[in-house]
Amino acid sequence: MNVWRRLSGQRRALALAGAGVLVAGGLVTIPVTAAQAATQCDVAYSTNDWPGGFTANITIKNLGDPINGWTLGWTFPNSSQRVQQGWSAEISQTGSQVTARNLSYNGSLATGASTSFGFNGAWSGSNPKPASFTLNGVACTGGTTTPPPTDPPPTDPPPTDPPPAGSKVNNPYAGVRGYVNPEWKAKADAEPGGSRVSNNPTAVWLDRIAAINGTTGSSSNGAFGVRDHLDEALRQGAGYIQFVIYNLPGRDCAALASNGELGPNELPRYKSEYIDPIAAIQSDSKYRNLRIINIIEIDSLPNLVTNTSGQPGGTAMCDTVKANGAYVNGVGYALAKLGAIGNVYNYIDAAHHGWIGWDSNFGPTADMLKSAAVASGSTVANVHGFIVNTANYSALREPYVRITDSVNGQSVRQSKWIDWNFYVDELSFAQAFRQKLVSVGFDSNIGMLIDTSRNGWGGSARPTGPGATTNVDTYVNGGRIDRRIHAGNWCNQSGAGLGERPTAAPEAGIDAYVWVKPPGESDGSSELIENDEGKGFDRMCDPTYTGNARNGNSLSGALPNAPISGAWFSAQFQELMRNAYPAL
Ligand code: GLC
Repeated sequence: MNVWRRLSGQRRALALAGAGVLVAGGLVTIPVTAAQAATQCDVAYSTNDWPGGFTANITIKNLGDPINGWTLGWTFPNSSQRVQQGWSAEISQTGSQVTARNLSYNGSLATGASTSFGFNGAWSGSNPKPASFTLNGVACTGGTTTPPPTDPPPTDPPPTDPPPAGSKVNNPYAGVRGYVNPEWKAKADAEPGGSRVSNNPTAVWLDRIAAINGTTGSSSNGAFGVRDHLDEALRQGAGYIQFVIYNLPGRDCAALASNGELGPNELPRYKSEYIDPIAAIQSDSKYRNLRIINIIEIDSLPNLVTNTSGQPGGTAMCDTVKANGAYVNGVGYALAKLGAIGNVYNYIDAAHHGWIGWDSNFGPTADMLKSAAVASGSTVANVHGFIVNTANYSALREPYVRITDSVNGQSVRQSKWIDWNFYVDELSFAQAFRQKLVSVGFDSNIGMLIDTSRNGWGGSARPTGPGATTNVDTYVNGGRIDRRIHAGNWCNQSGAGLGERPTAAPEAGIDAYVWVKPPGESDGSSELIENDEGKGFDRMCDPTYTGNARNGNSLSGALPNAPISGAWFSAQFQELMRNAYPAL
């Protein structure tokens, strides 16, 4: 093999020198020296642009000798072009000069091998592609020296080793495959047509202490415990796995459907019987090459902002857990304990646009998230990002309703549906909230996740253009793709569909579209069902309920005949597939 590589090196060196006498008679006589080692490369640079921002994907193909460690350089043609957040390379920018360096796991490139990295960036005016690139200081002029197809493959180990523990990547979703939970997959596969979606990664919800070791007694969890999932992830060769940390004292304080096992004063048990054992397993060095993603405590901190006394829909339980610090200190403890592990990534739940999209909630929620991030010995460094729309139904994009639209001189913000909110969809909300979070002290590299498991809103009821311009209500109601009765409705929504499939780095500031709520698992029972999980009956899951202050006293929009939260709801899964957008 050494012989082949030397000959092959000679051929490339000669071809670069433009020698026409290259392999006369099949014999190569010129000795190879280090000085002749050739650097040659081809770079594909593509972008996906939108006003003000873009995602760039870059593939380097090594057409020269094998390299160990690369630096790719280029100059942006336009002075407004900026790299904001990169993945699979360390990228820095000075003026218009950009330098991208390999990470520890993707520095070796055999002859003919490629590697990709990317970044999200900003631009104004125009976003032209760089005219040229250098690899390790040598201009990339493209493919003239690819070895002939008869050459045997190189023997260098493929550059697939994930980063070592301790070096967290900027976007843990980028460039790797997600873990498919076999327990969810089995339920999806048992549904007619379910195999069309069952290979998507979904999160594992640790919704009770018993879920850590595996339990068969619970609605959403099966026999797999945390270790079983991690072992299975290794077996699958997955690059990341997602857990939901969801067991705070006095959980789900503003609703009843997902009340949990711990009373409001059981913070010590939360720490010692729930977080500590999870941290002990996640820190096992056996799993060091997996990117372990923890989604931290859905709905909890936003509830402290909007659902305490004096507010429409405030509850006594939210008052209690706010006053005793159970949520803030519980979240801080979880962040500190789990964030200390080198390959663990924490994303805190940050509600959705239809909850905190008003200025009165937006800033206060960012402040509340910050106070939890620095509670119980944690620092903001333990927070990799935030997730919005978890287990909710808010549309990713509203293509036919923009918040800046007006009808007959009236802003759409005055419509009943938008109700003075500053956002109409999750993408614009997530990007804006990210900026707000950075401004209150979170790291400027934080990334957002959007749960797109059930916000597709496809099918025959999906509008294909804007609504009638009779007034703001006809315009908004006719054009909005979110078909809920009210944006405050959250339980088993009728008419919903699967949304965007899990995707890494889809938009600026967004680490991934994810399926955190496993499609097909109920949000809550439509009537009281006795159970031993602490789950209550919330009338927002009853299709006959006419609502309360939090949903504008509207019908709940929930599907009938639903089982308790977390339990499999076949009729809902079928509807989600029917109304998928993009369609299946
Ligand atoms: C709900 C349930 C929980 C379940 C989760 C995912 O929040 O309360 O038990 O694991 O949804 O379906």
